[in-house]
Amino acid sequence: MAAGIDDIAIYIPRLYIDASDFAKARGLDPVKLQKGLGVSQMAIVDANQDPACLAANACLKIMQNNKLSPEDIGRLYVSTESAFDESKAMNSYVIGMLEQVYGQGSFEHCGGIETKFACVSGSYALYDNANWIRADEADGKAALVVVSDIAKYDMGSSGEMTQGAGSVVMLLNDKPRLLEFDPKVTATSIKDEYDFYRPFGKETPIVHGQYSNMLYMIQVRKALEAYKKKVIKTGLIKMESGDTILDHMDYINMHLPYSNMGKKALAYLVRHEWRQLPRWKRILKEIGMEEPVPKDPRGTIESVLGDQEFMTKDHEFTKLFTKTQEYQEVYEAKLSSSLIASTMIGNLYTASLYLGFRSSLEFEYQKGVDLLGKRVGFGSYGSGSSAMVFSGVIQPGFEEVVKNMNLESELGDRRRLTLDEYEDLHENKLTPENSMIHSKKEFVLVDVKTDEESRGERRYVFNE
Ligand code: HMG
Repeated sequence: MAAGIDDIAIYIPRLYIDASDFAKARGLDPVKLQKGLGVSQMAIVDANQDPACLAANACLKIMQNNKLSPEDIGRLYVSTESAFDESKAMNSYVIGMLEQVYGQGSFEHCGGIETKFACVSGSYALYDNANWIRADEADGKAALVVVSDIAKYDMGSSGEMTQGAGSVVMLLNDKPRLLEFDPKVTATSIKDEYDFYRPFGKETPIVHGQYSNMLYMIQVRKALEAYKKKVIKTGLIKMESGDTILDHMDYINMHLPYSNMGKKALAYLVRHEWRQLPRWKRILKEIGMEEPVPKDPRGTIESVLGDQEFMTKDHEFTKLFTKTQEYQEVYEAKLSSSLIASTMIGNLYTASLYLGFRSSLEFEYQKGVDLLGKRVGFGSYGSGSSAMVFSGVIQPGFEEVVKNMNLESELGDRRRLTLDEYEDLHENKLTPENSMIHSKKEFVLVDVKTDEESRGERRYVFNE
C-alpha cells in the first residue's frame, strides 16, 4: 500500500525580530546574519502562545482546508523539543483545543503520542505513521503529523541569531496528492553526542555551535551512505557508472537551523559524492587548488576544528567550490527554493525541514517547473544526535495543493518588534493577557495554573 503526504499547512506567529535591528542591538555586522547565516527575520511567539497552540492552529487550518472531520483522522502525532510537561503528551493539549471547535469527545479514538529527538523526531513520526498506513492499520483514515517548536537561545549567545518559531502539519494517507514516500529506503544514523541539548528544567539549550555544524554534516552523510545502499539493493534507482545518488534527486531538502546551513550541508554532501567521480578532476582544475586534508584525517571533530591551517584552507576551498558552475547548477535547481521561507522565519527545530519542503514546492511551482514525478530527497538532522535520509515522488494531484500556496499571505500582517519588546518576551516578563496581538479565529493560551493542586495546567481558548 502507498503512503505519503497529501497536504501540508503551516502556522507562524506574526511577531518577528528583524535581523538588522537585532544585529545593531548586539553590536554585530548585519551582513553576518543576512549573508553569513541567511537570516533576515526571526518569528517570535507572543505572550499567549506556546508550541501546543501553534500546533493546534496548524491542525485546524489543514482540517478546514480539506473539509475534514475528526472521524477522518485516525492518528495525531506531535513532534517537538519544546515540551512543557515530562508526562502529559502535547497531542493531548492539541486535541483538547480542536475539541473546542469540533465538540467534546470528537477525537476520542484518535491515537497518538508526542515524539522527541531534537529536530529529527518529526521525520521518525512521519516514517512510523507512513508504516501504519502501509500496514493497512489505518482503516481508511488519515494521520496528522505536526511538528511544532520554539527555537530559543540564551540572550547574548551566538545561538540567539538563529531563533524562530512555528508549526507545520502534514496530512498522511494512502492516496497522497503531494508526495508518495519511496518504500524500504529510509535510512538513519545515530550517535550519543552533546552538540546541543537541553537538560530538564532549563528553558534554553546548551550548544557547541561549530561542533554541531560539523556533526550535522557527518551524520547526514552517514545516513545518505546507508540510503544509497538501500536504493541499490531494492533497485529503486538504477545507478550508472559516474553517477552519484544526488543526481537522482530532483530536489534536496535539508534541515535548516538557519538557511545557510542548508547550503553548507549540500556543498559538503556534493563534495563527498563527487570526490569519487571522473568529474572531480575537472572541478579541481576549475577551482585551481588541491582539496585540503586535515593533519589527522582520522581525528575527532574537536581535532579537525582545532586544526586552524586546515580550517582556513577548507573554508577557502569550499567558497571556490560553491562558485563552480557545476555546483551552482545543483544548488539553484535542487535546494535554493527551499531556503526562502527559512530566511523569513528562522529556525523551527522539528518543523524546519518541512517548512523548507513547503517553500520548495511553492517557489518551484511559481518558476513554472512541472513538479510531477520529481524525486524529493530529505536530509533530516536532530542534535544529540541522529540523521534520517528518505525520499518520495511528487504525485499527479500535486497542483491542486501547490497552486494555493502563498507564504506571504499565510504570514499575514506581521508585526516588527522593537528590541525592548523582544527582550521582554524572551525573558517571559509578559503574562498571556498582556499579549501584543489580539488574534481572531486562533487558539491562544489564557492561563497556566500555579497553585499546588493543579500546577502546570494550561487553559486555551479559541478566539472567535
Ligand atoms: P558563529 O560561530 O558566531 O558564526 O555562530 P560564524 O563565525 O560561524 O559565522 C557564520 C557565517 O557568517 C560564516 O559563514 C562566516 O564566514 C559568516 P561560513 O564561513 O560558514 O560560510 N560571517 C560573515 N559574513 C558576512 N559578513 C560578516 C560576517 N561575519 C561572519 N561580517 C552558529 C554561528 C551557527 C554556530 C551559532 O549561531 C549557533 O550556535 N547556532 C545554534 C546551533 C546551530 O544552529 N547549529 C546548527 C547545526 S546543529 C542543528 O542543526 C540542530 C539544531 O537545529 C537543534 C536540534 O536538532 O534540535 C540546532
